[in-house]
Amino acid sequence: MDGSKEMGVGVGLRNVSSHCSISEMDDFDLSRLLDKPKLNIERQRSFDERSLSELSIGLGRGGLDNFESTYSPGGRSGFETPASSARNSFEPHPMVADAWEALRRSLVFFRAQPVGTIAAFDHASEEVLNYDQVFVRDFVPSALAFLMNGEPDIVKNFLLKTLYLQGWEKRIDRFKLGEGAMPASFKVLHDPIRKTDTLIADFGESAIGRVAPVDSGFWWIILLRAYTKSTGDLTLAETSDCQKGMKLILTLCLSEGFDTFPTLLCADGCSMIDRRMGVYGYPIEIQALFFMALRCALAMLKPDTEGKEFIERIVKRLHALSYHMRSYFWLDFQQLNDIYRYKTEEYSHTAVNKFNVIPDSIPEWVFDFMPTRGGYFIGNVSPARMDFRWFALGNCVAIMSSLATPEQSMAIMDLLESRWEELVGEMPLKISYPAIESHEWRIVTGCDPKNTRWSYHNGGSWPVLLWLLTAACIKTGRPQIARRAIELAENRLLKDNWPEYYDGKTGRYIGKQARKYQTWSIAGYLVAKMMLEDPSHLGMISLEEDKQMKPALKRSSSWTC
Ligand code: GLC
Repeated sequence: MDGSKEMGVGVGLRNVSSHCSISEMDDFDLSRLLDKPKLNIERQRSFDERSLSELSIGLGRGGLDNFESTYSPGGRSGFETPASSARNSFEPHPMVADAWEALRRSLVFFRAQPVGTIAAFDHASEEVLNYDQVFVRDFVPSALAFLMNGEPDIVKNFLLKTLYLQGWEKRIDRFKLGEGAMPASFKVLHDPIRKTDTLIADFGESAIGRVAPVDSGFWWIILLRAYTKSTGDLTLAETSDCQKGMKLILTLCLSEGFDTFPTLLCADGCSMIDRRMGVYGYPIEIQALFFMALRCALAMLKPDTEGKEFIERIVKRLHALSYHMRSYFWLDFQQLNDIYRYKTEEYSHTAVNKFNVIPDSIPEWVFDFMPTRGGYFIGNVSPARMDFRWFALGNCVAIMSSLATPEQSMAIMDLLESRWEELVGEMPLKISYPAIESHEWRIVTGCDPKNTRWSYHNGGSWPVLLWLLTAACIKTGRPQIARRAIELAENRLLKDNWPEYYDGKTGRYIGKQARKYQTWSIAGYLVAKMMLEDPSHLGMISLEEDKQMKPALKRSSSWTC
């Protein structure tokens, strides 16, 4: 069985001399690339300059009132104390020290090297399930916390270990998974007698529902860029191993099939929402991560012969994907009214209602929910199907990656403000809104007792989402929204022992089956705090708008009532 191989030597790091570095590639002019197959990139700005200018969207709107420090890549000293609080004159919140302690308790070691953090350090819970594993998606906020605190080594170790795992042969029954698939999670088995450490990984073959995690590969690429931007160490991303790892992931998601859309077709449960929740098709979470990972890869791929081919494919896909998402996934008052007035059964190129969405399928709640000002990317779009639910992660990543135009980003923040009760309530942040119940819950979730209404993935509130919200707030120049949300979290999180999620319409109750000391709740809080304290941290996880990715289509119709 390949699931419990002894780990040999780590993936070797080689210094490869390159023609193009991440700093040079970061600001690709997409349309220029489409026109000119030959790459001729000039170094324009240094790493530091770029990270500052990446913040200009926020600064431009005058919202960054705490922006003083310049961005300084490289490690800081003092591993035990959070550097961020040591640096600042004001007293850190008492929760911060507790959070760091809890985060360090969750560290996982492989041959004495830290390689990740376990999902939850909850000894009170009888059922461990797979919460003792290092999940790729869960490790992202931990990694960012360590990077922001000047401790990049664990992130590098994690990137290399998961890259090594990607090389394993992956099978589910008699079916072999694509080479590029990254694991959902892995575990280190310590044998105290033989004194060996062994890695075990899960690519979906053990996971409930047997779904492969589509998001893992995307998070891996996004994290590789975050590491590179934060440390200024280009050598890791430039190794042939990392270049190959990226290309394998890209091969999986850029492959041609029968699809007519540039979005990525997915099974239910293939991301953070890893149980059946009716997100199959083209879920916003995956599309936003796909977009962000493509842009990150574009910044890191070396334009050698093979690399150039990937770069060209990425550029084409980004154009199509951003157009599709900004046009068809976007919903605001105007769009909703247009859809409400759609004609159906339109044939040929002149069709306005291209996917033949039947207006009767618009759920009642959305008419009340939609504010006059504001908007969001809906959950899913496919033939005759629009899932109007709000999903927080996809919308925040759309802002961070600039999949959302600046106007759309502002509209998402407007929506959050005007629907605060519904989307933030007493504990930030609702993973999805609204909950599905009764007959719909039975059909859509298959009667899942964990995903009952207003619980878990079905309208539950997840503290981990705080860091994504904070990043989106800073990017749009509205840090006060993040501050409000963080205050709410500070009322409860420590006292409740860092739960995984909260239940109820306003997120007032600790989740029915929520783990305590859930690592990404802890790390998400720390990252949110550190970003607010020093907004230049945003540079490692945010991408500037690419002016060449042209605006969304505007449906022509006006409000007549
Ligand atoms: C649950 C969550 C998933 C998370 C895992 C570990 O399965 O749904 O998103 O990665 O727990 O925390």
